[in-house]
Amino acid sequence: MSDEAAKRRAVLNHSGVIDARTLADSHRRLAELIRPGMRVLDIGCGTGAITRGIAEITGPEGLVIGIDNDPDWIAKARAEMQGTAGISFEVGDIYDLPLEQQFDIVTSARVLQWLSRPYTAIEQMVKRVRSGGKLLILDYNHHRIEWSPPIPSSMQSFYNAFLSWRSDAGMDNEMADHLAELMERTGELNDIVSLSQLEFTQRQDPDFIHKALIWAEVADFKGKQMVQDGYISEQDRARAERDYRLWVQSQGEYQQMYLQSVEATKI
Ligand SMILES: C[S@@+](CC[C@H](N)C(=O)[O-])C[C@H]1O[C@@H](n2cnc3c(N)ncnc32)[C@H](O)[C@@H]1O
Repeated sequence: MSDEAAKRRAVLNHSGVIDARTLADSHRRLAELIRPGMRVLDIGCGTGAITRGIAEITGPEGLVIGIDNDPDWIAKARAEMQGTAGISFEVGDIYDLPLEQQFDIVTSARVLQWLSRPYTAIEQMVKRVRSGGKLLILDYNHHRIEWSPPIPSSMQSFYNAFLSWRSDAGMDNEMADHLAELMERTGELNDIVSLSQLEFTQRQDPDFIHKALIWAEVADFKGKQMVQDGYISEQDRARAERDYRLWVQSQGEYQQMYLQSVEATKI
């Protein structure tokens, strides 16, 4: 399947989940690395929730640019950036970045999992890192998610179909565990370090329901695309969504999503 299939399947129809993210919670390793005055490029920034957190630290002496290929998200990011110094947002594609300058840190969170050519994306990102600067990528291994107790069988079947729908479009469901190898292959990066960035939420947490419901949103929005693409019937999709919502409300004890951050220094 082509890049086009991956592009169509990567479209985010709903920004609720990404709007709720923060730098401190959702890109923890980056929060440890940034300092006032740094120049940071955030690719696949969505509506800019994490990007604004970066600019709050880099401050007026720094420079933060958020790039996303979805013009609606960039419009929303621009509308919400008022009052934040040293930040701007541009529409652009990770495969063809609309910038010439170089940055202290180039980062991309939860984006490469949606690409059919992640290595090409990494090559493009490396070009935008200054010598001695860092490339930092955060992503998932969707095979290593854990739910307790097990999710309903209707939802497990949906999840399995979701992973096939993604991999048939050339996306890597285990992206997190392949990043280090792809970075190494560029020959332009040193000191590659992978750090576990598990996202764990349990029932007693105030935001457990909100966080666990991410998969109900996936069953809704991505699920409808999967129905159109012939990966699941509408009846099975709707049942999976309904059963999973009930599981979250009444049964779910915890959910753990497996993410890794992988960073490296440009030679
Ligand atoms: C799952 S969201 C992650 C948003 C944010 N980085 C976060 O961690 O919350 C993935 C984002 O990547 C963007 N994206 C997907 N393919 C892209 C591409 N080829 N170039 C630039 N952005 C892309 C999507 O529009 C979406 O906003």
